[in-house]
Amino acid sequence: MFKRILVTAALPYANGLLHLGHCAGAYLPSDIYVRYQRLKKRAVLFICGSDEHGVAITVTAEKEKITPQAVVDRYHPQNKSAFEKFGMSFDNYSRTTLPIHHKTAQDFFAEFHQRGILKEKEEQQLYCETDKMFLADRYVEGTCPNCKYTQARGDQCENCGTWLNQTELIDPNCKICGNTPVVKSTKHWYFPLGDFQKRLEAYIAERSKRDGWKENVLRYCQSWFKEGLQDRAVTRDLSWGVKLPIKGYDSKVMYVWFDAVLGYISSTKEWAERSGSPDKWKEYWQSPETKYVAFIGKDNVVFHCIVFPAMLMGWNDGGKSQYVLPENVPANEFLNFEGQKFSKSRGWGIDLQDFLKFFPADMLRYALAINLPESRDSDFYLKDFQARVNNELADILGNFVNRTLAFTEKNFAGKVPEQGELGKLDKEMLAALKQTPAAVGKLYEHYRFRDGVIEAMNLARAANKYFNDSEPWKSIKSNPEQCATTLNVCLQTCRALAILLEPVVPTIAGNIWKILNIAPHLRDAEWESAGEPMLKAGHALGKPEILVAKIEDKQIDDMVRFLEGGGQPKGNSKPMITIDDFKKLDLRVGRVVQAERVPKSEKLLKIQVDLGTETRQVVAGIAKHYEPEKLIGRSIVVVANLQPAKLMGQESHGMLLAANGDQGELSVVTLLEDVPLGSVVR
Ligand code: MF3
Ligand code: ZN
Repeated sequence: MFKRILVTAALPYANGLLHLGHCAGAYLPSDIYVRYQRLKKRAVLFICGSDEHGVAITVTAEKEKITPQAVVDRYHPQNKSAFEKFGMSFDNYSRTTLPIHHKTAQDFFAEFHQRGILKEKEEQQLYCETDKMFLADRYVEGTCPNCKYTQARGDQCENCGTWLNQTELIDPNCKICGNTPVVKSTKHWYFPLGDFQKRLEAYIAERSKRDGWKENVLRYCQSWFKEGLQDRAVTRDLSWGVKLPIKGYDSKVMYVWFDAVLGYISSTKEWAERSGSPDKWKEYWQSPETKYVAFIGKDNVVFHCIVFPAMLMGWNDGGKSQYVLPENVPANEFLNFEGQKFSKSRGWGIDLQDFLKFFPADMLRYALAINLPESRDSDFYLKDFQARVNNELADILGNFVNRTLAFTEKNFAGKVPEQGELGKLDKEMLAALKQTPAAVGKLYEHYRFRDGVIEAMNLARAANKYFNDSEPWKSIKSNPEQCATTLNVCLQTCRALAILLEPVVPTIAGNIWKILNIAPHLRDAEWESAGEPMLKAGHALGKPEILVAKIEDKQIDDMVRFLEGGGQPKGNSKPMITIDDFKKLDLRVGRVVQAERVPKSEKLLKIQVDLGTETRQVVAGIAKHYEPEKLIGRSIVVVANLQPAKLMGQESHGMLLAANGDQGELSVVTLLEDVPLGSVVR
């Protein structure tokens, strides 16, 4: 019934780095789905990009005293490249700051405006008298009226997912100055979501029946419908965002969500332009033969199941052209890290790009896939990660491929042996082989990626058992023909695993092909063909090699230390600086004249340092390593021009230099020879 599949994955904000939670929410599932569909030889297009508007970005810009453009220019390339390393196989990764996107969003807005769908209304909003501005979205924080979470934002509560009107917040405060805002009225354009409720309910009922929507997603939608959909403001009093395509509204831009969801369309347009047929995007977006699947995390449900479909319906009603609506919106729940929620503000979790410095992407992909938060939140523990990789990827998959190849090399001169008469075990193995592609495929079609991966790995499990039970090391002497059959079947299974596991561990799958010595253009890897014994007898195999190296405890420890050190990488991992950068430091020699513990702190010492011309108080985190008396009289090096700071209520005017070892050791930098106090260090 469908000719093409359009897959989108939520556009991540270019306001921070991607972490493992994002990967488990929307990205890995969408990539598994797309890679699977490609192996089914279906026409599939995979679209994503950076969401570059919204208040989160302007807040970052203000904090860092840079422009919002500089913020997104920093994060977009980093996220794009982390995705590439992770193996995301997007056909296009765009940005919502591009002109093609602004034009697309403005077309929608203008269409709704002209047709009178948008209504202008005067409404109460929170206004900060100190900062002289309306506090859109994340400029205001307060207590959520629904779940009582104290850091709910003006547009949505991060904790319970409720979409809020900012005036509903309890005890709101301005994110810039912390003051309590006042209520003041302002005019905005509203999209009449309520007008679409009946049709949205019918749409979701129909699609969920047809394609099997996830329970969690339906539950969210139903609670929205039960409350009754309200008109929603689609403009904001801000300067960063897509300008309104109507006169007289220069101080307003579109609400980020209004433009962001349209980013899928503009990213597809960009793809079409780059591929040389600028109209090709319509084949995907404007054809009833397209199956459109939108992968997201649970906090995005309302925007993809309700707001975006309503916008598309609104457009379609105009009769100009007809957009497809999502056939399904598979949203995952959240992934926790070592038992706690990922949190940028608390510095909890690990960024994707950092993780990939320690371990290859496929290890992470596998461990995440087997533990996806598909129906409830799940947890990522580093110890589990290590165990999954070692006990499953290495011991089951890697070991099977390796022993098969090694045995064939030793006993059959590295060539695929002939299949002879089949015994009971062989028949069973071939039967398992035959039914696995359809079984895994069915799970993937239903967005059950965890179970699909488990099912595919079960084939490797069965194959190891088959190898053991067939005892080829005995039959090579007693019944060489039977031994040849065993190895032939094992090798067919290696090929099958290369296909069946490609969606989840594409690099490992590629290495299996390589070990089998089948060149890329000869990898006849149509999904169902995995079930058939396609390797020809006599084909010369490649060299056996370790497919998956085990993770040593030390590697996990290294990563833990990295995380404990606030993610500061060791070695030469900071960018180069110039001599002028270095000269900005005012390093001076000082003598410790007094040192004492800071009350109630295990870590801090309060030290008085004589710099020759003055005595400074410096607070240093070295109390676990030095008794205060031991420092008195020592010559040390102080960063004299560091901005003063308060630590545990104690003023610190400068910082002393100390070396930090890998195992948590610490040693204060001292001088070999005496020099006058205050001498410059360079
Ligand atoms: N940037 C949003 C987030 O990270 C997701 C936007 S999805 C889009 O939660 F469709 F609106 F782009
Ligand atoms: Zn303020």
